[in-house]
Amino acid sequence: MKRLLLALVLVLPLVSGCTKKQNEIVIGEYDSLTGSDATFGLSSNKGVRLALDEINAAGGVKGKKISLVTLDDQGKNEEAAAATTRLITQNKVVAIIGGVASGRSKAAAPIAQTHKVPFVSPASTNPDVTKAGDYVFRICFIDPFQGFVMAKFANETLKLKKVAILRDVKNDYSVGLADVFRDEFKKRGGEIVTDISYQAGDIDFKAQLTEIRSKNPDGIYIPGYYTEVGLIAQQARQLGIKAPLMGGDGWDSDKLSEIGKDAINGNYYSNHYTTESSDPSVTEFIKKFKAKYNETPDALAALGYDAAKILVAAMERAADLSGPAIRDELAKTKDFVGVTGKVSLNENRDAVKSAVVIQVEGKNRKYVSTVTP
Ligand code: PHE
Repeated sequence: MKRLLLALVLVLPLVSGCTKKQNEIVIGEYDSLTGSDATFGLSSNKGVRLALDEINAAGGVKGKKISLVTLDDQGKNEEAAAATTRLITQNKVVAIIGGVASGRSKAAAPIAQTHKVPFVSPASTNPDVTKAGDYVFRICFIDPFQGFVMAKFANETLKLKKVAILRDVKNDYSVGLADVFRDEFKKRGGEIVTDISYQAGDIDFKAQLTEIRSKNPDGIYIPGYYTEVGLIAQQARQLGIKAPLMGGDGWDSDKLSEIGKDAINGNYYSNHYTTESSDPSVTEFIKKFKAKYNETPDALAALGYDAAKILVAAMERAADLSGPAIRDELAKTKDFVGVTGKVSLNENRDAVKSAVVIQVEGKNRKYVSTVTP
């Protein structure tokens, strides 16, 4: 009970529209607003709110205003599942904008599926997420593609021959991405000299890094989340490892360079968008985001923004606001021009989109290249 109360207190300032007013439509959202990957949820939520503010200012959907209920999953799978149940049974939301982390989406999506409430993940890339059923969608690319992108980059651009992998064994996303990278890099004639693990929450990685150092790799692939990756980068450099570090979208947070400091500079990761784009939909989005929040949007903010816009566009097209009607229109999403690219959903309800490779440069994220599926 005490825990529940604490969760509610943390959540309350972020909850709006708890009581449904007559002329209002309620959309639910849960994500990590606290915990070791809190920037994921906080950024995504900012993107969602910006999109809904714009939509409401333009009249809402079907003549009604949208209100958003956001719950904190504290970065825990079981809390994501509990939040989803609460949004459906208590807040009676018409649809859910799901969380960022794939593990949490895997815990939450089946509940939305059972209740026939459309569920849209902005950023969960593990292929299993949308296998929960036909009410579960995502507007980002999936890890078989993201892993391919970095293996290709390691092989063709960095011309690496021997790579070590350091994966978070307790994280579905990390494990899936590590497997794809390993297979693709080997297919290209590369060698994986060691493939070892850590667990989210660890703070000392010296044993694993010492083992890696003994294999003398010319690159290290670390598909984890930013908190551990920042610490790993620091400790790798302290141990004298100079090989480039590579990762996936889980690196994308301002906190990465706060934690990794100089050690993370010059390293590479795959991502969903680049702030250096001159595409007008990107520059316009960055301008509006900065005006509202006084910060530069990361990929999650952009994905949250796109997810809310795509969901509401489907709601507008739907015959009514029942779960099945919204679901049917979501499934038809095609060529939606978003900040993170053109979004078309395939028969698995996954988006097929290009990815970018980014190089870390302090707080800056230098654009390196784009890979199209
Ligand atoms: N793709 C990650 C996952 O599935 C989440 C993520 C997306 C993190 C985008 C950062 C940026 O777990």
